[in-house]
Amino acid sequence: MRVSALSPSNSAGGLTVLLLLLDFITPAATVKHENFKTCSQSGFCRRNRAFADHALTPESNWVSPYEVKENTVLLQNGILTAEILKTVPGQAEKVVLPLNINFQKNGAVRVTIDELKRTKGDIVLRGESKARKERYNEAERWALIPDWDVRDDKVVYDNQKGQITLAFGPDLKYKAVVTVYPFNIKFERDGETHVVLNDRGLMNVEHWRAQPPEPEEGKEKSPEDLDGGWDETFGGNTDTKPRGPEAVGMDISFPGYDHVFGIPSHATSLSLKTTRGGEGAYEEPYRLYNADVFEYIVDSPMTLYGSIPFMQAHRKGSSVGVLWLNAAETWVDVVKEKKTKTDTKTHWVSESGQLDVWVFLGPTPQTIYKAYGELTGFTKMPPSFAIAYHQCRWNYVSEEDVKDVDKKFDKHDIPYDVIWLDIEYTDGKRYFTFDPLTFKNPEKMMKNIDQTERKVVLIIDPHIKNTENYPVVDELKSKELAVKDKAGDIYEGWCWPGSSHWVDAFNPAAIEWWKSLFKFDRFKGTAKNTYIWNDMNEPSVFNGPETTMPKDNLHFGNWEHRDLHNLNGMTFMNATHQALEARDVGKGKTQRSFVLTRAFFAGAQRLGAMWTGDNEAKWEHLQAALPMLLSQGIAGFPFSGADVGGFFGNPSKELLTRWYQSGIWYPFFRAHAHIDAKRREPYLAGEPYTSIIRDAIRLRYALLPAWYTAFHRASKDGMPIIRPNFVVHPDDEEGFGIDDQAYIGDTGLLVKPVVGEGVDKVDIHLADDEIYYDYWNHKIYQGKGKKEYSAPLEKIPLLMRGGHIIPRRDRPRRSSGLMKHDPFTLVLVLSQKGHAMGFLYHDDGESFDYKQGAFIHRQFMYNGNLKALTSRDLHKDRAAAAAYRKVAGALQIEKIVIVGASNSLDTSALANGKSKAKAILVEDDNGKVKEWHASLAYTAAVDKDHADVLVIKNTKLRIAHDWTVYLEQVGAEDKPKDEL
Ligand SMILES: *[C@@H]1O[C@H](CO)[C@@H](O)[C@H](O)[C@H]1NC(C)=O
Repeated sequence: MRVSALSPSNSAGGLTVLLLLLDFITPAATVKHENFKTCSQSGFCRRNRAFADHALTPESNWVSPYEVKENTVLLQNGILTAEILKTVPGQAEKVVLPLNINFQKNGAVRVTIDELKRTKGDIVLRGESKARKERYNEAERWALIPDWDVRDDKVVYDNQKGQITLAFGPDLKYKAVVTVYPFNIKFERDGETHVVLNDRGLMNVEHWRAQPPEPEEGKEKSPEDLDGGWDETFGGNTDTKPRGPEAVGMDISFPGYDHVFGIPSHATSLSLKTTRGGEGAYEEPYRLYNADVFEYIVDSPMTLYGSIPFMQAHRKGSSVGVLWLNAAETWVDVVKEKKTKTDTKTHWVSESGQLDVWVFLGPTPQTIYKAYGELTGFTKMPPSFAIAYHQCRWNYVSEEDVKDVDKKFDKHDIPYDVIWLDIEYTDGKRYFTFDPLTFKNPEKMMKNIDQTERKVVLIIDPHIKNTENYPVVDELKSKELAVKDKAGDIYEGWCWPGSSHWVDAFNPAAIEWWKSLFKFDRFKGTAKNTYIWNDMNEPSVFNGPETTMPKDNLHFGNWEHRDLHNLNGMTFMNATHQALEARDVGKGKTQRSFVLTRAFFAGAQRLGAMWTGDNEAKWEHLQAALPMLLSQGIAGFPFSGADVGGFFGNPSKELLTRWYQSGIWYPFFRAHAHIDAKRREPYLAGEPYTSIIRDAIRLRYALLPAWYTAFHRASKDGMPIIRPNFVVHPDDEEGFGIDDQAYIGDTGLLVKPVVGEGVDKVDIHLADDEIYYDYWNHKIYQGKGKKEYSAPLEKIPLLMRGGHIIPRRDRPRRSSGLMKHDPFTLVLVLSQKGHAMGFLYHDDGESFDYKQGAFIHRQFMYNGNLKALTSRDLHKDRAAAAAYRKVAGALQIEKIVIVGASNSLDTSALANGKSKAKAILVEDDNGKVKEWHASLAYTAAVDKDHADVLVIKNTKLRIAHDWTVYLEQVGAEDKPKDEL
């Protein structure tokens, strides 16, 4: 979070604010968009755009100066190696660039291009720098999982007339065609080209060279004196660039693709816009340079807090993806060329490091998310409380305040799971301490919160206060675990505590030390139910260039900050994640961690959740949130949220209410507010708002089994938790650009939150001709296209797609922990043909026992012809499933709701009382067949536009067991009429 203005009259309490004022004079109040670079203010971006402009001008007759030296080509164990030679005008000697193409068994391909001179350290650094001489090659250590490299050793090689063809992947269905001169690579599938590297010849590896001497008076600069390539000054900070210009650029084309998605985080549409000007386009490239962007604007390609350089291209019948594995500052231009079809052409440039591109050839969204996850890891399975509701503000100022908020939630029957403490809980911004005046007995506070199975999240940031009598900073210094400046001395900058140092979490020793700080006997006052929020880890440095660290700072191994900037936040999150898992919670068990991060990179999904940073209490920010979160899902990091209510400013009650109705669909659901914002806990809103918000939060809680199941799927195959239209309906061309409605996991729930002031109806896009039912009143919506949906303030536009089964837990409780033993409800939403299918995943929600098979995983199928509902075990390990059945055997399904019953049953007879439905249960576990005395309640449709509903109550079906329920219709004689 950032300070916008500090006024002693705010509600957080005079004392805290006074402390804040004394502690540091805020430079943040002055941070403006002008403090962040545009492409033309960034030397390498400016150079590479100019390079592209030149290359793309027909008069330039541009030919890319890169050539594969054919006699160096070698294919061995799934890796093709070769040398690329770069011809430099006016220079006889060619620059040697080692090429490495790595083929993975799952069909993913990696193309890496390095610089020979740099790999050998055969360069001279400018100035006194101690920086490494190689191009940064350790991004994979953090971004990829340790055992990512599963090689395809069956690649088939062919070389003809300067074209090397490599067939690879499952059934050799993919091809890479390397053209030797000018170098490019075409990736084919099913005989069509889908991705081309260096298609337009914009590849540009700025090789090392000595800085040319200053030209004499009146003489031109040498062309080798690259514009902005040497010392570069911005906003009063000078970057010394010890290695001079070293950017890497490449263009990547997607022939026949009209839409590209991904490269979060930007406050922009899901389908990326073009960036070279013109109608509805941006002028600036999308920027990826993790930054503490104060009061960010929406609809902008400007950089935000986190970066994932993964892009997906999609068209009817095909999806492909690329990962630009580079952690330095990166810019991406997007243009589209319409001929008969549209080609999307992108241009990627990073300031330093290797050129490292991964290609995923699809053909479906699902196949590329899976392949991407097999490299960077899948979403970590969170502890179950983490997907419930989180209550945060800057700040709950004391133990009494926490207690009061906690009590008021209960008094107003609003569930919540986690209360958050922002920076003011500390003793003068010293992390790992509590303010001795306001948090005298934190241990007791944790216990108190734990009585309702609730949790406390504390903020801990990477800046460590540079002060006396603070053992944490003393250890940081004496153990030399902090980030260093360009001279190799400890780096000092300003953040919340004033003068600070930064933990260098790239250093394994720093991680070990960090782990020690979170032990219960060290971080006094914390308990099992304490979890951590890592903010400001871009890192945010108030007096640094672009509010972050100087690029010539040095990290572990003497890598420059420039090389790994976008990884920084994730390494810190990793350290915290490890620290939480290392705490001794007893019983010899490890407790799942929960860490929220603001900065992130590819792979951070393995560590916890992210949020979109400091948004504003404005309608346009509410609107911007959903596309941003959908984009996170595309890029493999779906555990994402946006501050509900808006961080800065005061939302109107209508905005607050609509934000909750929207926020319950964020995978990470947290309300948060700035210190200057008025208190806005949901119970303060007053009627009818409080009740509407309560209903919304309760809906989130009722659907927690569905959410948990969606998280489980994401953790297995990378399918996003909330899904845009194109992922669910990849052939619905009209819906490819839709980003204001979302599907929840595999449930068929389709939500279109209201995000406009005074809006009381929305148009929901239906991608197919299946029946959709209003969640609330079972009104039927059918027919591809836009459907108007009435949405007064109390109503969330929510449809259920026919053909799905939704698991719920319907009993309202104070927290998700208190729902542990509650029975489930299954909602069968029958398709037009009368069928439905759904899933449920369940485990203890806190330990890692699920890795040993301690979980329930069911598939439910309703066959409308047989009128049979079957629960089938998806657990692959029968013994483990049986063992867990002993633990979870008591969990039951209490109710089955069949929406659209007439699609399967003769409900006219049910309606007029001529017949009744009878359910017969068959338990497969022991082959027992038993007649079953569940009561059935039938509600006829009010009219032909609504569905009928049959409810089976008191089913007492056991969730962990195999069973089939047959619905039979029998004559009406033997039943009392009101039972139907
Ligand atoms: C965290 O970092 C360590 C290196 O210290 C690495 O081995 C580990 O895989 C990382 N953990 C995750 C979950 O990414």
